[in-house]
Amino acid sequence: MNASSSAEVLLADVAEYLALLHKEAGLSTDVTIRLREIEAEVASRGTYAQTSEELAHGARLAWRNSVRCVGRKYWPSLCVRDCRSVQSAEGVFAALLEHLTLSTNGGKIVPLITVFAQAEPDGQGIRIWNDQLIRYAGYRKPDGTIVGDPSQAEFTDVLQGLGWPGGLGTPYDILPLVIQVPSKVPRLFEIPHSVILEVQISHPEYPWFAELGLRWHALPAIANMALEIGGIRYTAAPFSGWYMLTEIGARNFSDEGRYNLLPVIAEKLGLNTSSNRVLWRDRALVELNVAVFNSFRRAGVKIVDHHTVTQHFLDFESCEAKNGRPTYAEWSWIVPPLSGSTTPVFHRHYEGRELRPNFFSQPPAWRVGAPSASPCPMRSSVKSADQ
Ligand code: ARG
Repeated sequence: MNASSSAEVLLADVAEYLALLHKEAGLSTDVTIRLREIEAEVASRGTYAQTSEELAHGARLAWRNSVRCVGRKYWPSLCVRDCRSVQSAEGVFAALLEHLTLSTNGGKIVPLITVFAQAEPDGQGIRIWNDQLIRYAGYRKPDGTIVGDPSQAEFTDVLQGLGWPGGLGTPYDILPLVIQVPSKVPRLFEIPHSVILEVQISHPEYPWFAELGLRWHALPAIANMALEIGGIRYTAAPFSGWYMLTEIGARNFSDEGRYNLLPVIAEKLGLNTSSNRVLWRDRALVELNVAVFNSFRRAGVKIVDHHTVTQHFLDFESCEAKNGRPTYAEWSWIVPPLSGSTTPVFHRHYEGRELRPNFFSQPPAWRVGAPSASPCPMRSSVKSADQ
């Protein structure tokens, strides 16, 4: 696309977004005046800077438009931190530590997004390489097994290629953050434990459960998606909220390709795992979810069960309908992976249309390449924030 046609596309996105913003939120400035101002800025430098109002409302709308999220009832309460002036990898890291502390909030989780500088007109922008701010390493062993989270095995390889020496080797080693600012090599930063809240998992009726040594972090914080508002792309805009129970209990701990704990738990429950007919997976799954839910609650960490959150989703739908907006959703993401048919969303149909503003996935930063991350100079930049 040449420069003038890309400016046209950008201005069309701007006009569409400003009209929406004006209709929904009311603007402190007149739309036509603001549009002229943006046109002039785009003509001179190929892009424009959003006001904090345009940014904050846009971030909330991106959440509202996320067709895979069942927790959207709370979209108006999203807190938005404007960190667009942060330039360096160190500055981004410091802001991410603040993000973790503010959003975790001692367990009373606050939905929060931190927005860093927008991508340049050439598409280059700040990238956080991790898919979430807090994740557990997945170490490949010579016999082909993985210690830790298998979903992180590839990224753990990438980190080791960048010079990360690895952690203690437990199934719950926190991965360092990789932050890359345009035209610089990626930098590694260890997250101090003081900003990470974790919950040890036990079961209200089975004392042996605690001996399995399971734990999970309190805060899911997506770090690798781009936020798009009014034609502007924010390539680093991590956001976090509270967990829905089944994300941990019916996926992270139980998927065969993740921690794969159902056989272990079924065994402990005394079930015969050699026959499908005893429904050992189903019974283990329920007890695992009971354990996760109780442990989070006892630790004072906000979490929502799948029955409550799907009822809240219907509240969201009716609120949207009152405001004249249809609710779009991806059914297979909205229906929980445990007891789906007992929740109201199972019995409804949804169209999965993707409106903007929205969050979009980006190709893994390590496959995008330039400038190439050579392993040697990285070694000296492996930095521990504890030091
Ligand atoms: N499913 C992801 C995980 O288990 C988290 C995705 C975001 N979830 C949320 N409740 N905000 O880590």
